[in-house]
Amino acid sequence: MIRPLIAGNWKMNGLLASLDIMREMESGLSSLQDKADCLICPPATLLASMAAEKSTSRLKLGGQDCHSESSGAHTGDTAAEMVADAGGSYVIVGHSERRADHGESSEIVATKMKAAFRAGITPIICIGETLDEREGGKTLDVVSDQLAVSIPDEASGTDFVVAYEPVWAIGTGKVATVEQVAEIHDAIRAALENRFGAQGAGTPILYGGSMKPENAAGLLALSNVNGGLIGGASLKAADFLAIYAACVSQL
Ligand code: 13P
Repeated sequence: MIRPLIAGNWKMNGLLASLDIMREMESGLSSLQDKADCLICPPATLLASMAAEKSTSRLKLGGQDCHSESSGAHTGDTAAEMVADAGGSYVIVGHSERRADHGESSEIVATKMKAAFRAGITPIICIGETLDEREGGKTLDVVSDQLAVSIPDEASGTDFVVAYEPVWAIGTGKVATVEQVAEIHDAIRAALENRFGAQGAGTPILYGGSMKPENAAGLLALSNVNGGLIGGASLKAADFLAIYAACVSQL
């Protein structure tokens, strides 16, 4: 059985005052069963402060992106080693907002995954189709191509996490139906098993895209949904904890 992961992506939100949200999450977690991992990926500016302030190992921290190199002349970028040094144990790579805003191809994402392995942290690789691609019947092709190219040969199947995030469902309030999510997650599982054999059966696959307390239970009940990557609802401790509670109550 795969240990679920409930992960929050704060995106470009959060100031030092947001440490209060983390404290609220930590205290809420203490009354919930420890049956799933819990992760927050704050902006890079907050990672070290949150790590210093954190009082429980139940809440893990991560970065939202990393560069492929470990250091050098790359203004504005963050090395995977820096994420680890600041207290992160995970890093999101290939988020659709980075693919769109920064032109990150799956080939580039693969170099970032390698950097995460080099730094000893777990990459969460994001894949997902746009609305045009879905309406054009290309969802499975897009997702399987992103999966194949973004994951480097160094990966073993159990050393990374996949997040399926349909672009049209991110931050829009539109959620993929349970049937749509089941279809794609089952296809991702089949692709992972095909590439990594038995280890591909153990890769956590998260759903992301307007996951909220109201829809989390139905999505998390699907056999190949092993958690969530949550944007907006991870900025409110009560909502994030409600999603975590919905997850552990099913185990
Ligand atoms: P929302 O939950 O705000 O739709 O964002 C999802 C996401 O992009 C997480 O990485």
